[in-house]
Amino acid sequence: MKKEKLIKKYDKQVKVYEKNRNHSTLSTWRKKLINKAYGNVLEVGVGAGANFPYYTEETVQVTGVDFSSEMIKSAKQAASDYHFRAEFLQEDVDHLTLAPNSYDCIVSTLSLCSYAKPHELMNKFNDWCREDGIVLLMEHGLSSNLFLSYSQKILDPLFTKISGCHCNRDILKIVEKSDLQLINIETYWSGIVYMICAKPNKN
Ligand SMILES: C[S@@+](CC[C@H](N)C(=O)[O-])C[C@H]1O[C@@H](n2cnc3c(N)ncnc32)[C@H](O)[C@@H]1O
Repeated sequence: MKKEKLIKKYDKQVKVYEKNRNHSTLSTWRKKLINKAYGNVLEVGVGAGANFPYYTEETVQVTGVDFSSEMIKSAKQAASDYHFRAEFLQEDVDHLTLAPNSYDCIVSTLSLCSYAKPHELMNKFNDWCREDGIVLLMEHGLSSNLFLSYSQKILDPLFTKISGCHCNRDILKIVEKSDLQLINIETYWSGIVYMICAKPNKN
């Protein structure tokens, strides 16, 4: 799908993401993941700021990136309710260049499904994150259940057309093949949802 079309699709979905900020299961997972964030945080595909309530660490400063102007507007508004310092970049992460080693923590939730080059982006995370930093991911992808994964593969073109994202990405393989080093993996919903903590590997 062309980038402009994808951006418009996400612009139009902003109200849905605002409504889903308090989705109970997702909130539990978000809390578990985001509680680990600290320091200078880069949150990629920030959406409507659904992770903001869970940045509890005193020192957190968040840079939220999104290519959708509507999502950025919504995230800015949401951030004003919280104590941390926040700034926003309206950029396409697939073309984003940032200084190496500039973040303590990089976060991406439910967004790996829509990046054009997810594997390359994981390597960029490896570059942008400080050596002693942490990469926190909560992503959905191909189920470990054979029947579900078969259905996901078949439905992917339709799913992408409707939502803008892919449902057939092998999340673990994407991270494993990147430069990042896995620290912890948890899976939910028949292996559709992955919660991953990784650290950069600078060797
Ligand atoms: C499925 S939503 C998830 C939003 C949020 N992270 C959450 O957990 O609710 C994906 C978000 O990533 C953004 N996005 C997708 N591809 C992007 C890209 N290449 N560059 C920047 N933002 C992107 C979309 O605009 C959208 O806000």
